Amino acid sequence: MTEFKPLVFSGVQPTGNLHLGNYLGAIRKFVALQENNDCIYCVVDMHALTAQLVHEDMATQIRSITAAFLAAGIDPEKHIVFNQSQVPQHAELAWIFNCVARIGWMNRMTQFKDKAGKDREQASLGLYAYPSLMAADILVYRATHVPVGDDQKQHLELARDIAMKFNMDFHDKIVPTGLGIDIKVGEEPVHAYFPMVEPLIDGPAPRVMSLKDGTKKMSKSDPSDLSRINLMDDQEAISKKIRKAKTDPDALPSETEGLKGRPEADNLVGIFAALADKSKADVLSEFGGQQFSVFKPALIDLAVDVLAPINAEMRRLMEDPGHIDAVLRDGGERARTRAEKTMNEVRDIIGFVR
Ligand code: TRP
Repeated sequence: MTEFKPLVFSGVQPTGNLHLGNYLGAIRKFVALQENNDCIYCVVDMHALTAQLVHEDMATQIRSITAAFLAAGIDPEKHIVFNQSQVPQHAELAWIFNCVARIGWMNRMTQFKDKAGKDREQASLGLYAYPSLMAADILVYRATHVPVGDDQKQHLELARDIAMKFNMDFHDKIVPTGLGIDIKVGEEPVHAYFPMVEPLIDGPAPRVMSLKDGTKKMSKSDPSDLSRINLMDDQEAISKKIRKAKTDPDALPSETEGLKGRPEADNLVGIFAALADKSKADVLSEFGGQQFSVFKPALIDLAVDVLAPINAEMRRLMEDPGHIDAVLRDGGERARTRAEKTMNEVRDIIGFVR
């Protein structure tokens, strides 16, 4: 039984500044996955239009995410880094998927409900179709593994549903053309054109919470800049934000049990652990019984150690937008070649004349 070759794909929207949560939760994982996988990392600029059409700083935002990818250690030569709009095949496959996905499936998407809010009539059609474009991003490369946050799990399940329906509806076209690959669906071997994508959700990534409220996720849309550490923050800003981070008056516990009901302490210990590549238990065995007046300076040193080089490299890269654009163009070209191969096969399976 042949199988789909493992291929990692993920995307980041070019909206708002990247922060520590994005770095620890996504980008650092992307970097680690390069070691043993073929990876495609995409700045999903077309997705950025779904919530807001006009972005004065679109180009800068695209370059800034790209700079963060490169500064964090993603290798754009061994792997592929590009922005989505350079490969129109994403939009083309998304159209086909709009005709595969059922309205009932889309209506279950909780992110659409959250983002559209009360005034659903005024949400863009693009916001509604967003998960279909996301499925196309992944499947236009027939990628198999997708590192994402917990909040994207439902979208990946939708991508599997779309892949499955396409495979079943076109089964009689896929088999004679020999374009599919045998996959196992439960115990059944099935000849399928699109793979069943797997989310890569766990790993060392913690949920990074706001520095001002340990019960809220660190977010680029929080009005207080003190609530988050941005990847573009310099040493001084990082120190200030950690110094001012909310805590409680107690000393740190010696065991993780003791972090229960102390969301701010839990968050800072979690951030320390993630930055140091240790477990929370390890961190507490070192700092248990210590006051925040001791822990915070240690956290500042560590955060600056890890983030300052990335920050400096991002700034250096942002001074040469021509270089970033060349990286994106090169990645776009290589991505397009792969995506066009898929689209030709999809056109043949559907029966479009070409
Ligand atoms: N929806 C993802 C997010 O907001 C971004 C995204 C778009 C994506 N297309 C993707 C992630 C494809 C993984 C794979 O985080």
